[in-house]
Amino acid sequence: MQIYADNAATTKMSPAAIDAMLTTLRETYGNPSSLHSVGQQAAEVLADARGRIAARLGCEPSELIFTSGGSEADNQALRGAARLGAAKGKKHIISTAFEHHAVLHTLRRLEKEGFTVTLLDVHENGIVTPEQVQAAIRPDTCLVSVMYANNEIGTIQPIAEIGRVCREAGVLFHTDAVQAVGHLDIDVKAQNIDMLSLSAHKFHGPKGVGALYLRKGIYLEPLIEGGAQERGRRAGTEDVPSIVGMAAALDEACEHRAEHTARLIPLRDKLIAGLAAIPHAALNGDAEKRLPGNVSFCFEGIEGESLLLLLDDKGICASSGSACTSGSLDPSHVLLAIGRVHDVAHGSLRLSLDESVTEAEIDYMIQAVTETVAYLRGISPVWRELQSGARDYIIA
Ligand SMILES: Cc1ncc(COP(=O)(O)O)c(C=O)c1O
Repeated sequence: MQIYADNAATTKMSPAAIDAMLTTLRETYGNPSSLHSVGQQAAEVLADARGRIAARLGCEPSELIFTSGGSEADNQALRGAARLGAAKGKKHIISTAFEHHAVLHTLRRLEKEGFTVTLLDVHENGIVTPEQVQAAIRPDTCLVSVMYANNEIGTIQPIAEIGRVCREAGVLFHTDAVQAVGHLDIDVKAQNIDMLSLSAHKFHGPKGVGALYLRKGIYLEPLIEGGAQERGRRAGTEDVPSIVGMAAALDEACEHRAEHTARLIPLRDKLIAGLAAIPHAALNGDAEKRLPGNVSFCFEGIEGESLLLLLDDKGICASSGSACTSGSLDPSHVLLAIGRVHDVAHGSLRLSLDESVTEAEIDYMIQAVTETVAYLRGISPVWRELQSGARDYIIA
């Protein structure tokens, strides 16, 4: 048996998206900027995809800028809005401690360029409140960026309310909705969102393509200079087949969302209940305000990486929050942001499900994780110390 439970990292492409891409690759090879008929055919296909994606977000087609994915959309939004703010003498930015690195590293760069960044603390339940945002806004604040749903612990932020606070204060509001689009309600107008980042490969679309929603009337300096594509806001010939694949995947995700969510939540909750029965285990993030497919746990006395590798041997593809891109052994900044101490944060596991998961697979994952945690604890010196009383348990 192989169970792919790492859908927050990326998803398997939907057959409908693959078909749409293949048709476009075969038949629509023109450059949408060319004036001849082959080019204009590509421009029409591109316009159709743009219109469909815009309709799913509740925006106008002209408010979408296609990008190479979520990271580029985040970079464009933050750098562009920061520059806009600086031109008005406003150089303060608010975000949160548990954003994706595409946001956090961009903010770090902006700090080096003279901006001041306030990173809001995240509550233990993995949620940032509108009141926190309100209290942090200063006269020189130019931008607030708060993610819609967290990629590690799946918690969902009160985006519409945070958007309202920003709108009332006259501050631009960006949300990294990479984990939310296709999975949660999105209506950029009703939710008071000025800028929103999305990425196709998180909703069964292709990798390397995404979009930035940019509210009409906001003019950002382009990150990528060159041709006049995307109304002069992002240079480079559009990847028409990938954009068509993204539109097909998003249509499918949105059309079946209610039914997928209704099926997924009880299965997710069964998995949570099963893993919560392991002694000294704790769910990360709010039990209800979380993505329908996200299960994130910390198990005391073990290393997440070892758990991950042993689960892979048992056919389960999962992820550990403590995996570190830099090669150092620092635990996940997300788990630290919700108050997990280093020792506990190291023993983390994320299982991110998609709608194809079955009850038999949930049962298998509960059994495999329970057995593997017990095995790892059996060979762990830390666990021995905890059991002997030489160390105190952190997770009750
Ligand atoms: C919340 C969040 N933001 C941004 C990104 C980056 O998206 P991409 O891989 O399309 O660059 C990811 C991907 O993991 C993500 O989960």
